[in-house]
Amino acid sequence: MNYQPIKGTHDIYGQEIEKSQYIEELFSAVAELYAYRKIETPILEYTALFQRGTGESSDVVRKEMYTFLDKGERSLTLRPEMTAGIIRSIISNKLYADDLPIKLYSIGPCFRYERPQLGRYRQFKQFSVENLGSDSARTDAETVILAMQCLYMLGFKDLELKINTIGDKESRDAYREALKGYFSSKIDSMCEDCHQRLELNPLRILDCKVPEDQEIAKGAPKIKDYLSDASQDRFALTLSIINDLGIEYEVDDSLVRGLDYYSEMVFEIHAKGENGEDFGAIGGGGHYGGLSKELGGPDLAGVGFAFGLERVLSLADSLHLLDHIKAELDCYMIPMSEKVLNDSFNIVSELRGNGISVDSPLGVQKVGSGLKKAERKGAKFALILGEDELEKGVIQLKDLNKKEQIEVPLEEISEQIEELLEEKEHEHHCCHGDGECHCHDHEKEEE
Ligand code: HAM
Repeated sequence: MNYQPIKGTHDIYGQEIEKSQYIEELFSAVAELYAYRKIETPILEYTALFQRGTGESSDVVRKEMYTFLDKGERSLTLRPEMTAGIIRSIISNKLYADDLPIKLYSIGPCFRYERPQLGRYRQFKQFSVENLGSDSARTDAETVILAMQCLYMLGFKDLELKINTIGDKESRDAYREALKGYFSSKIDSMCEDCHQRLELNPLRILDCKVPEDQEIAKGAPKIKDYLSDASQDRFALTLSIINDLGIEYEVDDSLVRGLDYYSEMVFEIHAKGENGEDFGAIGGGGHYGGLSKELGGPDLAGVGFAFGLERVLSLADSLHLLDHIKAELDCYMIPMSEKVLNDSFNIVSELRGNGISVDSPLGVQKVGSGLKKAERKGAKFALILGEDELEKGVIQLKDLNKKEQIEVPLEEISEQIEELLEEKEHEHHCCHGDGECHCHDHEKEEE
């Protein structure tokens, strides 16, 4: 039997893993700039959590969950999104007893039984950010800004921020009635799913992917005509803060988002690849009013968003934002004969002990093939140790980029490499390797 990955899942390895780690670290660092802390919650939760939290009328819960009975006949589900689990964890651990708001971010796999296509998987990774306990238009704005900053820091420039408000409960109740009225006369020509949506929550009809139904939905009433004064004022404040920071946005009055917990402001971020590729929304989120209470916790408002990390990576790759990311290896050690193997082993251990990354075949290697291997592995330096060198108490150190080789006393090797690595780091960040740098350090050297 030839085992293949399950449809809609994929292996991540090679350069992709470096790039994906880089994105995760960068996003985490940005979230931490906004004083968010990391949380990890289980991938498996009781099914009821998503039914109540993510929402029974959402497509995700109705059609896309990986749900099964465990050996104890409990209905469990592989999380289709992270928000419900994070809020559950805040309640289970009474994190709300500390200072409010609670600001958490999380990274991990989610599962949705969807039709796999470009940018759409059955197992995918989310970077999710949640702020619970601050019911303010400013917090809504700050959350959108944080999402945008993550992407700007990665190098994205042309981002499309779509934003809307679906209002408070009163506004949404009025809007639902209006939608019911509009769709009731048209439902006979619409898909089976929309029949159910009309009963459960007519707002969900607006997310229907069937082209004919989307055409009908275009003529539906708009939420903006049903907003309470409070919701309008709140949204105006959020927009003005985002505007003041010079972030461009489009108010998209058809954006309602597919999950049930949202209220007030919702948003999505889109971008296109170098050749116009569209992977769907890179991220989306919004304000949620009653989720914590719905899950048995205190009545605290929240706001958050999640990025689909595969989509972020595909887009960033297509736009060449990650070309500089590759596996890092400081040194490759080439022992030239049996007699130097023990010393070579000890030198490698010493270097690693000093924080220098080293790879070595642990057996004898010819210099020519060793150097080729070192280059293939992306090492910055090769170390060559033969019997002659050992007798003299030295080692050959070759800069694989500059193709320069020097002889270094064994007792100085670690220090020497550390200095050279620092120089390289400096050249990379400040001189861009063009040799025409006028930074303070270099000008001082020239004097
Ligand atoms: P969502 O819009 O369902 O929101 O998902 C967030 C992001 O996850 C999407 O914009 C997309 O990039 C990615 N994504 C979703 N499904 C897939 C898939 N099948 N394959 C690849 N990527 C996918 C949420 O999940 C909310 N929990 C976000 C949130 C947090 N709202 C408030 N707090």
